[in-house]
Amino acid sequence: MRSSSIHDVARRAGVSVGTVSNVLNHPELVAAATRGRVESAMSELGYVLNGSARNLRTGRSNIIGLVVLDVRNPFFTEVARGAEDAANEHGYAVMLCNSDDSEDKEAHYLRELEQQRAMGALITPVSTSPELLDAMVARGLRAVLLDHPSPTGERCSVAVDDVRGGELAAAHLLEQGHETLAVINGPRSIQQCEDRREGVRRAVAIAGGDPDTDVVELEIESLNAPGGEAAATQLVEHRPSPTGVVCVNDLVALGALRGLRSHGYDVPGDVSIIGYDDVEFASALRVPLTTVRQPKYRLGRAAAELLLEETGDPDHTHQQVLFYPELIVRESSAPATART
Ligand code: RIB
Repeated sequence: MRSSSIHDVARRAGVSVGTVSNVLNHPELVAAATRGRVESAMSELGYVLNGSARNLRTGRSNIIGLVVLDVRNPFFTEVARGAEDAANEHGYAVMLCNSDDSEDKEAHYLRELEQQRAMGALITPVSTSPELLDAMVARGLRAVLLDHPSPTGERCSVAVDDVRGGELAAAHLLEQGHETLAVINGPRSIQQCEDRREGVRRAVAIAGGDPDTDVVELEIESLNAPGGEAAATQLVEHRPSPTGVVCVNDLVALGALRGLRSHGYDVPGDVSIIGYDDVEFASALRVPLTTVRQPKYRLGRAAAELLLEETGDPDHTHQQVLFYPELIVRESSAPATART
């Protein structure tokens, strides 16, 4: 049975093919009654838009790729929602791509987006020097760096001042009298990890300490709870024992809390913990988590809006949007003197 065409729908609804196209791509331009007749005709005929045919005609699909480091991290869920809301408001769909902190997986998704003629990509790159992305942008793929600065300004970017975020966390612990800090961090090849580390070291130096001796750095591969739990075991074996711990994100902090507790340590009685992101569960933990809040939804929305602007404006000039983090103090951090 031949599938119905846009012409069949137009004939059935008694409108032009252009009106049917507007119902599909710019419904806001079509009167509600007319839109209803067209949608009824589509339903009666079982019409399905042929996206491949449209892509061939326009050279671009209506897909925006969203390439994130870890879909299990609730930080990216909030970011994705912001991007999706902005994209949907302009008739675009979002294809969520999980790079899993892997350059190979990231490359796989970037190639897929290029082959699908995606309208563009919002990407939190795994590497600080995303060469494949640069090559694809040179071939015409529009891209906005998400949660990652663009030092050269060669493309739009939306980021958070993570150096400031690391500094806020460490300064809070230092002000509470903690002298030996620990950082449970991801690979320094990930920009967010490098910047947060730099912020912690800066706060220690400003307070008159020596970052090389007063900061214990524990690097983990997986920026999640198991990674944090494994780091906690190293932490309790370290001498002198750090009493203030900055974790690269809230998932790692959750794992560190669990790991410390399994070794009989009390938080914050023995060790104070600070996370990063302020995801939904942070305030609901048995020991509510002190953390560094990021504007997650706004990050995603701002990145999508920059991509849409670049797509629609031939005179577009790239913008670098920088948000500032905020320290949210809760019960997981306490003055060092309060140790039981
Ligand atoms: O992906 C690692 C971290 O970087 C996330 O938890 C979030 O903090 C992002 O900025």
